[in-house]
Amino acid sequence: MSAEPDRDALRDAEQSLTGTDQPLVETEHLQLYFPVKKGILVDRTIGEVHAVDDVSLALREGETLGVVGESGCGKTTLARSIVRLLEPTAGTLRFRGEDITHLGRRALNPVHRQVQIVFQDPISSLNPRKRVGQIVGTPMRLHGIDGVENRVSELLERVGLNPEHINRFPHEFSGGQRQRIGVARALAVNPRLIVLDEPVSALDVSIQAQVINLLDDLQDDFGLSYVFIAHDLAVVRHVSDRIAVMYLGKLMEVSPATELYSKPIHPYTEALLSAIPIPDPEENRARERMVIGGEPPNPITPPPGCRFHTRCPRATEVCRTVEPPLAEYPAGHLAACHHPMNVDATEIESATRSPLSPLTSGRLLPNGKEAPVPPDEADQEPGVPSWGERLKRRLTA
Ligand SMILES: Nc1ncnc2c1ncn2[C@@H]1O[C@H](COP(=O)(O)OP(=O)(O)OP(=O)(O)O)[C@@H](O)[C@H]1O
Ligand code: SF4
Ligand SMILES: [Mg+2]
Repeated sequence: MSAEPDRDALRDAEQSLTGTDQPLVETEHLQLYFPVKKGILVDRTIGEVHAVDDVSLALREGETLGVVGESGCGKTTLARSIVRLLEPTAGTLRFRGEDITHLGRRALNPVHRQVQIVFQDPISSLNPRKRVGQIVGTPMRLHGIDGVENRVSELLERVGLNPEHINRFPHEFSGGQRQRIGVARALAVNPRLIVLDEPVSALDVSIQAQVINLLDDLQDDFGLSYVFIAHDLAVVRHVSDRIAVMYLGKLMEVSPATELYSKPIHPYTEALLSAIPIPDPEENRARERMVIGGEPPNPITPPPGCRFHTRCPRATEVCRTVEPPLAEYPAGHLAACHHPMNVDATEIESATRSPLSPLTSGRLLPNGKEAPVPPDEADQEPGVPSWGERLKRRLTA
């Protein structure tokens, strides 16, 4: 029996979410576990940090996908996996349809020209012994781009820096200016996608807005796609087309940005929204907040069922035992919750199981219906594992 139908379902789901035949970048059940080692003479693996666990996402040309979640939920690991600075443990990563999950360094060269990353901390991500001209020019030289000096000057000007400062060292710039250098370095090789890992978290609020405006302008000018990572839903609000909410390595909710703020379906998203202060103190005091207590559980031994159940005020028995699938509600809004918020009975009734759901999730939807078994599993010849089953075995082995 062919393994294709399950893959087709995933691709259809990605297309319906991104509105394009071929997303720029796709992750399919992507997993990245870090081994935890112990030992004096010989390192033994005693566990694994489930940093990114079965994440399926797609991004189209020109789109900005916001990725949000608390510290340690796997945002940076996902970012580094997408740009292939890390090699995934399982699942698939595709760039323009090409499987790049396990490509070697040389084969990745053309991909790295098109996919760049800007790091959170502009101080540690810029070599303190290199001048700005070298920092921005080196990627161009590595990728064989001509006219480096002129282009470096143009880029510095484009990101709002004085081209005459080309010979200065990073410590001679302010935090915001250093982040602009990081952006210029990423732009140097003409990428299609820039993964921005908390690009403004280390900056003052007034400077944050300037850098975000710059990123917005650059996106329009160069037709860039962004994965924009933040731990706070306030930051990604105005820049994202869609937003993915992560918790302990998993996707909890994926939604068009405008809808996520007016209609969060997942209790974790609701809690993140409650944490955003409203400028009017009266309104701030009056509103009902959902406060989540405690710290996220240990990612080496994540809780069974819904990973959020240990902190969720709505948790019931089913949450503790069955991992909820990503249910698809109207407008391409996905949420993995047995007891969804802000959806009416009709919306719950019409929900379907998204093929982007983790392979480890159950089939039970919030409407109480069992999602149908995908065709490749239903028509399976006895004894021949499907593609989905094979991958699931790899993920859970
Ligand atoms: N190289 C590594 N080796 C082992 N564990 C790691 C490594 N890098 C990250 N982790 C662990 O993986 C999990 C996810 O980390 P990650 O840095 O991706 O989270 P994050 O969401 O980016 O957090 P933050 O908001 O603090 O930047 C954490 O538990 C972290 O401790
Ligand atoms: S599935 Fe249960 S525990 Fe998880 S978010 Fe929904 S209500 Fe809370
Ligand atoms: Mg991080």
